[in-house]
Amino acid sequence: MNSDSSPNREWLIDIKDLHVTFSQDDKTVNAVNGVDIRVHKGEAVGIVGESGCGKTVTSYSLLNILPLNGRIVSGEVRYRGGNGSIIDITKLNPRSREMRKLRGGEIAMIFQEPMASFSPVHTIKDQIAEGILLHQPPKDKKVREKIIEYLGMVGISNPERAIDAYPFQLSGGMRQRAMIAMALACNPKVLVADEPTTALDVTIQAQVLMLIKEMQQELGLALVLITHDLGIIAHMADFVYVMYLGRVVEKGPVATIFDSPKHPYTRDLIRSIPKLDRPEKRLATIQGNVPDASRLPSGCAFHPRCREIIGEICRQTEPVLEEVEADHFAACFLHSPKREIEPGTGESEIVQQPQ
Ligand SMILES: Nc1ncnc2c1ncn2[C@@H]1O[C@H](COP(=O)(O)OP(=O)(O)O)[C@@H](O)[C@H]1O
Ligand SMILES: [Mg+2]
Repeated sequence: MNSDSSPNREWLIDIKDLHVTFSQDDKTVNAVNGVDIRVHKGEAVGIVGESGCGKTVTSYSLLNILPLNGRIVSGEVRYRGGNGSIIDITKLNPRSREMRKLRGGEIAMIFQEPMASFSPVHTIKDQIAEGILLHQPPKDKKVREKIIEYLGMVGISNPERAIDAYPFQLSGGMRQRAMIAMALACNPKVLVADEPTTALDVTIQAQVLMLIKEMQQELGLALVLITHDLGIIAHMADFVYVMYLGRVVEKGPVATIFDSPKHPYTRDLIRSIPKLDRPEKRLATIQGNVPDASRLPSGCAFHPRCREIIGEICRQTEPVLEEVEADHFAACFLHSPKREIEPGTGESEIVQQPQ
């Protein structure tokens, strides 16, 4: 079976069997437990899952910016450079020149909270200029002109004035736009956006998402969009990875995932998207909470919350991703031939929840 989502296209990022842990007090937090993610040139990849499922830690591994108590235990994060060379980011020193060139220059990140990316004591110009000078010293244009051009491109009105502002002088939405300008000004190949609009109000959220999508398409960037909101994924992504407790439990093209979700977790996530045409109905929620990542459940990690559990196999055996249709994979015994051969697996235990 071929686990590559698009075998004919060249990948830019290839995360293979990534395991990341944190040491906290005297516990080991199993944040990422064998993740495979591929991102192709120009593709918009969505990573979705509830809070605590390992989305941010996966993206931090990609940029080699794990907190000090975090460790990549095993796996690879490969990046294909412009000249075709392949670099395993996990092998680079986070502070090395090579890593700093990749981070920002090739793979740029926008965060949920722009104040975390900007220093409060420098102007927008100084901060964007620092990145440009490190990654892309402009030959033909002065740095100031280039920054004004990018600020205009992301929809900041009066960029000639905004360029000399301090971050706190801009509104939340404008700061987010300035952060996107800062990310794009270094001409990256990949844009990683981790919950980029969660802190914004709904109207601005939609505008910023649209801007990210436009920029991605216009500049031919690969986008890795991380969110807990499948509704956002529907508008933004081509291909989706659904994560639960540090594992990918389902992946496929966005239309396929919405038309025929296979994993009960994905089905629950879809059920909990607010529907504008049925505002009176109470939102469905997923039963229970994401368990503590220092005590992963046995078998399928989702089994304690699963409405479609089929028996002992779910409690004892960890399902692996299997192809359920072209390009669409799920890690669930409901859709696995192993279900047939496992003794003691019956239909009797299907748990139905009242709607
Ligand atoms: N610095 C840290 N120290 C200890 N545990 C952490 C740290 N950062 C993240 N974690 C844990 O790793 C798991 C995955 O976290 P995260 O990637 O932030 O989830 P998500 O982004 O999907 O909400 C969670 O259980 C979280 O508590
Ligand atoms: Mg997160």
